[in-house]
Amino acid sequence: MNGSALLLSLLLPLLQGEPAPPRPGAEGAGDPLFPGLGNGGYDVERYDLVLEVDPDAAEIEAACRITATATHALSALNLEFGTLEIASVTVDGASAEWRRSGRELTVTPARPIARGARFEVAVEYAGSPRPIRSRAFPLPIGWMTFGDESYVLSEPEGAASWFPCNDHPSDKALFTFAVTVPAESTAAANGRRVGVDEREDGARTFRFEVDEPMATYLATLAIGVFDVVEGETDDGVPLVHYLPEGTADDYADRIAFTAEVLPWLAERFGPYPFSTCGAVVAEVPFPGALETQTLPTYASVAFREDVIVHELAHQWFGNSVTVREWEDIWLAEGFAMFAMWLAEERDGGREAYDDAVREQHAQARALGVGPPATPPVHDLFGLNVYVRGALVLHRLRVLLGDDAFFEMLRAWSAEKRHG
Ligand code: ARG
Ligand code: ZN
Repeated sequence: MNGSALLLSLLLPLLQGEPAPPRPGAEGAGDPLFPGLGNGGYDVERYDLVLEVDPDAAEIEAACRITATATHALSALNLEFGTLEIASVTVDGASAEWRRSGRELTVTPARPIARGARFEVAVEYAGSPRPIRSRAFPLPIGWMTFGDESYVLSEPEGAASWFPCNDHPSDKALFTFAVTVPAESTAAANGRRVGVDEREDGARTFRFEVDEPMATYLATLAIGVFDVVEGETDDGVPLVHYLPEGTADDYADRIAFTAEVLPWLAERFGPYPFSTCGAVVAEVPFPGALETQTLPTYASVAFREDVIVHELAHQWFGNSVTVREWEDIWLAEGFAMFAMWLAEERDGGREAYDDAVREQHAQARALGVGPPATPPVHDLFGLNVYVRGALVLHRLRVLLGDDAFFEMLRAWSAEKRHG
């Protein structure tokens, strides 16, 4: 065929309105740092997760229903899913073929899915969730069990340890959770707690609804024996804290701090983007914290004022305004680090802020820390991202002056809200 005949043969079906033939969705979302992570060909609208957890055996039985829209005609589609045993996979209620290769789960529906069609994939599964190893983080990520307690900290690629998903921040979705645990345990997850049902045997089902889009890495679940402390911030955002049994009084000061610092952050960053807030505090042998949406999770050693400010700042920067590709993570960590310097200023005035900036700047220079926006995958959570990211914001603050700078932060969080 000559060029124009070839072009015509390609264009003719389009001109005649013939739909493109179905093809498999891509196996990756196109993230340069994580080529296999996420998938193409569809856009998830919501995850409805139902889990029954046996803490003694460290086993779960679960069902995940994914509601999505096809962005092209699909003959098959991929999800990320770890090592749990699959009992069944259906697409729109009809049994579907599936195969797994590493973390990629390929689902082939009985009939292709049309472009633009809304469809449901339901996966039933069971087993003992295991954390995932990532080149991007030195500790195991995802579902972690300590004795009869479990916590989920997935950033950046651990969500597949507990549910099948399009595990990439470019595809945020709504979530519901219904988690059944034995009488003595409590389950906590992101979002609003909308109900608790009790069975005859005393087992309880805790139901949560996430009202705002959420990235898969921010989905969390905590199962343990907790003191549950409810309250609200000084400007009326409901707060729920899940604390190790018997520690509610010990942490009263940190809960009070959260209640006053969240409105303080909102004055600088714009309205708090979610309908609830709080924390899970875990008495466990891992250091650190994660900004799990509406419910940051802290190791007890990390449940300190500076870390609280960091994880709360992420609710704006990271959780509401989310990276489309992981290499842009300074847009989350740089802002959260910068918020910690602002908190120094809140306590000790501009001098304390300047001291913090100067100290971190000197350290970054001495160590030859690289630029913030092009981290290698093994340095996704390094000083380049955190400190040099925050230094970018400091420089903008100095150049623009406080009025324009904070106006810019509020405009950024408003324009990109839930995006
Ligand atoms: N985003 C976290 C923070 O700066 C660090 C990453 C934690 N990830 C994890 N899987 N624990 O607070
Ligand atoms: Zn952070």
